[in-house]
Amino acid sequence: MGTLTAQINLTEAELKLLQTPVYQECGMFFDERRSHFLKDRLQRRLKVVQLDSFYSYYRLLTSREGRAELALLLENLTVNETSFFRNKPQLELLQKSVLEDILRKKQERRDWTLRVWSAGCSSGQEAYTVAMLICDALAYYYLRNPLPFDMPTPKPLIPPPWKLEILASDISYASLRAGQEALYSEQHMEPVDYTTRLRYFEKKADKYGVKPQLKELVQFDFHNLKTEFLPRRNDIILCRNVMIYFDEAEQKRLIDKFYNCLNLGGYLFVGHAESLFGLSQKFKMVHENNGTAYQRIEVAG
Ligand SMILES: C[S@@+](CC[C@H](N)C(=O)[O-])C[C@H]1O[C@@H](n2cnc3c(N)ncnc32)[C@H](O)[C@@H]1O
Repeated sequence: MGTLTAQINLTEAELKLLQTPVYQECGMFFDERRSHFLKDRLQRRLKVVQLDSFYSYYRLLTSREGRAELALLLENLTVNETSFFRNKPQLELLQKSVLEDILRKKQERRDWTLRVWSAGCSSGQEAYTVAMLICDALAYYYLRNPLPFDMPTPKPLIPPPWKLEILASDISYASLRAGQEALYSEQHMEPVDYTTRLRYFEKKADKYGVKPQLKELVQFDFHNLKTEFLPRRNDIILCRNVMIYFDEAEQKRLIDKFYNCLNLGGYLFVGHAESLFGLSQKFKMVHENNGTAYQRIEVAG
């Protein structure tokens, strides 16, 4: 009885050792402030897999047979906090200035496809927020810049010939499933005003479901930001509140990768507590009314 409930001691050396596969796999780094959280999750996993030492657990994580357990551990270590319309000043910058700039340049080139990537999307609120903002912005843009194309009826969310592709990615399968399901509780919906609810949501029992026309604009997929092969040719990348869990070396690598994943003149949005300061010189900061974004600048070589 005692052996089942007693916690196995986790030494500092073991803790350090166990951080290696986690860091190597997904870039997450646990400094002193967050090591308590890591210890707690490791204790829990050790109980579930019923091993008798953390060294055996390390051996499992680093073995071929342990791939599934490593994925489960990562799932337990990610912080998935998110919300609709998070960081409003930044979203206003996106909707008013950034989109206006991108749409105007695209129209000049007769390039009608807009590609957005929510990297580290959690349960989808960020991607759907951006989808709603872009639909509204495109409708308003169309009103001011009508194009010689017939508008089909019923009026689509995206006025032709524009196309919108939003990719929402994460390493947490549970989050990706929640995003795909697109059902949100009253509490989740708190930041969504009534007009927006009426336009983009439908009631499903005690939840709000994202309407199919909006839902189909967002594609959910697994992408680990630690890997080299990430989705390219994006006009906008949002990677908010993800880099804070990485160390500086990993943040630098990621920003470099984002640079290559953006189209010329594309924009990167990071979280409120994050910045590119000291990490990259390949972006120009755009700051308006408390909202910040980073625009890719073209560098020689
Ligand atoms: C705090 S949430 C941020 C959600 C949303 N971007 C926002 O700002 O509201 C962080 C997300 O990053 C994901 N994440 C952490 N490490 C990752 C990695 N290496 N690759 C992809 N996603 C990762 C987590 O699973 C989690 O869902």
